[in-house]
Amino acid sequence: MKVIVAYSGGLDTSVIVKWVKEKYNAEVIGFCADVGQEEELNGVEAKAIRTGATKCYVEDLNEEFARDFIFPMMQANAIYEGNYLLGTSIARPLIGKRLIEIARAEGADAICHGATGKGNDQIRFELTAYAMEPNIKIIAPWREWDFTGRMDLVEYAKKNGIPVTTTAAKPYSMDRNLLHISFEGGILEDPWNEFPEEIAVMTKPLSQASDTPEDVIIYFEKGIPKKVNGEELSPANIMRKLNALGKNHAVGRVDIVENRFVGMKSRGVYETPGGTILNLAHRGLEEITMDREVMHLRDSFIPRYADMVYNGFWYAPEREMLQAAITESQKFVTGEVRVKLFKGACHVTGRRSEYSLYDDHIASFEDNRAYNHKDAEGFIRLNALRLRVLANSKQRRY
Ligand code: ARG
Ligand code: SIN
Repeated sequence: MKVIVAYSGGLDTSVIVKWVKEKYNAEVIGFCADVGQEEELNGVEAKAIRTGATKCYVEDLNEEFARDFIFPMMQANAIYEGNYLLGTSIARPLIGKRLIEIARAEGADAICHGATGKGNDQIRFELTAYAMEPNIKIIAPWREWDFTGRMDLVEYAKKNGIPVTTTAAKPYSMDRNLLHISFEGGILEDPWNEFPEEIAVMTKPLSQASDTPEDVIIYFEKGIPKKVNGEELSPANIMRKLNALGKNHAVGRVDIVENRFVGMKSRGVYETPGGTILNLAHRGLEEITMDREVMHLRDSFIPRYADMVYNGFWYAPEREMLQAAITESQKFVTGEVRVKLFKGACHVTGRRSEYSLYDDHIASFEDNRAYNHKDAEGFIRLNALRLRVLANSKQRRY
């Protein structure tokens, strides 16, 4: 048997490489995706091989991640349960897709991931895998082995010559990529405990945020960001640039208790500096370029679209159907938005577009040529007709 293991170089996935190799008597090939986690990936391949893999793919997927996953999702203004910008959720289908592509190229029988049986990530990896390769075998060691916690892993690692770095066990489960970093577990499991903001990674603590407000101008083409402050940047560099700007002003931290797809509530803290700026700026541009009914219809899709991303249904016909409508809705979302960053806040302060629908002749309080006040009278009376019939009827008396 040949197995492709999603590998990070950390303790958990190192143990997994060894465990899968023994338990399934398998040839193990590692796959390590760089999606912007900012970990040192030099030496990961050698480490995988020392741990028992026959080889290890290490791939920079940053551009693809931003271009084909983050940006289309941001065209939808997707937000889960009103707060979560889906940073982890959107990376999983990309990693799952590459696992399958590598499995095909290697003629492997199975893929393997290190997500637990309690979370969302297992679902996202596996739905992606099954959508692409209906008969693939999936190995999820956390659902199979008898280890119950980190100490068991450390012991297994020591017994099997897997180097255990002596850095103190991380107090949180963290997941970082180009879009965000998440913190779960540890003291955060009590939803009353405040997140100690000194441990923030992608945003400065508010007390250390810059004392000078900063303006940022973002140029979008069809709802896709292309330039920051006039500079044309690749998709991944747009994210990096906005992350750096947001970090300095402590923009984009949220603390939420969310509903996992498996049914439990879970507390998470997220830092999404660039994504928060983009989301706001994108809305700002839509305000002037999008037809009202198109906007309201698209907005009504947002919770459904966000559920699809959160629950792992990226490669699903319903997400693709909505995406087509959303992409269509972005045809004229081209232009510039200015936002001001200051002390944790991000505000739109200006927008302009050659496709603007905003007409100051119509909106102005001073100019009555394009709008006849008298038209409003009939408009209101017809809209009131039902209400007046109702008011006159017996129904109103109960
Ligand atoms: N709760 C978030 C989500 O489901 C973050 C998950 C973080 N995953 C991780 N392996 N640390 O998208
Ligand atoms: C995990 O359980 O592996 C991480 C958290 C999640 O997937 O929701």
